[in-house]
Amino acid sequence: MEQLVSGEAAKLLGQARRVVIFTGAGMSAESGVPTFRDALTGLWQQFDAQALATPEAFRDDPALVWGWYEWRRSAVGQARPNPGHLAVAAIEARVPSCVLVTQNVDDLHERAGSVAPVHLHGSLFAPRCSACAQPAEVPAGVTEEPAGGRRITPPRCTRCSAPVRPGVVWFGEALPEAALSAAVEAAATCDLLLTVGTSGLVYPAAEIPQVAARLGAAVIQVNPEETPLDHVAEVNLRGPAARVLPALVEAVWGGANRG
Ligand code: APR
Repeated sequence: MEQLVSGEAAKLLGQARRVVIFTGAGMSAESGVPTFRDALTGLWQQFDAQALATPEAFRDDPALVWGWYEWRRSAVGQARPNPGHLAVAAIEARVPSCVLVTQNVDDLHERAGSVAPVHLHGSLFAPRCSACAQPAEVPAGVTEEPAGGRRITPPRCTRCSAPVRPGVVWFGEALPEAALSAAVEAAATCDLLLTVGTSGLVYPAAEIPQVAARLGAAVIQVNPEETPLDHVAEVNLRGPAARVLPALVEAVWGGANRG
């Protein structure tokens, strides 16, 4: 039987009082949501994801960028939370204090029952005006986008008629202040930080696990691959989130989904 969880990890989580769970794209990989560094397909394959996720790209070709985010929102709408997301919600329900900080722009944590994830990089479900920041309607229901993607002219702001933009943080943009300070505050006062499915390459988000470690918290990393966070973590659990997290909850509390 493959050992997904170490006794040390179970002990650390079992005795933790103030926990931060920090997640990245790998958390949603087993729900079929491609990680940011996965190769792009269809219309997008001629672009580098990082080039599409910038204010300049939106200024130069709003229909291309809006189309890409509608394609991603459609993919997320058709995806489902995986056992890893459910285990995160189970941990939140079982530890005295828990703050969930995510870099993901999908809503799979919320659909798994997590109450108030801190979205450091925004959300696919919070479009706003690109000029006056007035929140805009999210088209209702799960949209069907062609697999290869398509250009879509963004809707106009109902207040100032400027194009509506996706509610995500683009490269070169500052993170939402309230979210960043809530994440730093939680990391600075936690006794355990669980980092799941992030490459730890994109700053300032990647600073969060390091703040926790610097201030004496234990760090557990869940990732099938090595990352720069290996040296920050006290325990590295090498495996996929949807298998490791339920096993961790089982090891500490004997079964994630027993409510
Ligand atoms: N379970 C756990 N981890 C996984 C899994 C899995 N099933 N599959 C992949 N991973 C790991 C990979 O090994 C990698 O280290 O998830 C990580 C994904 O890394 P990135 O694609 O770089 O995603 P992330 O760290 O979230 O990126 C940070 O950068 O791209 C921007 O805004 C975007 O929020 C994103 C940020």
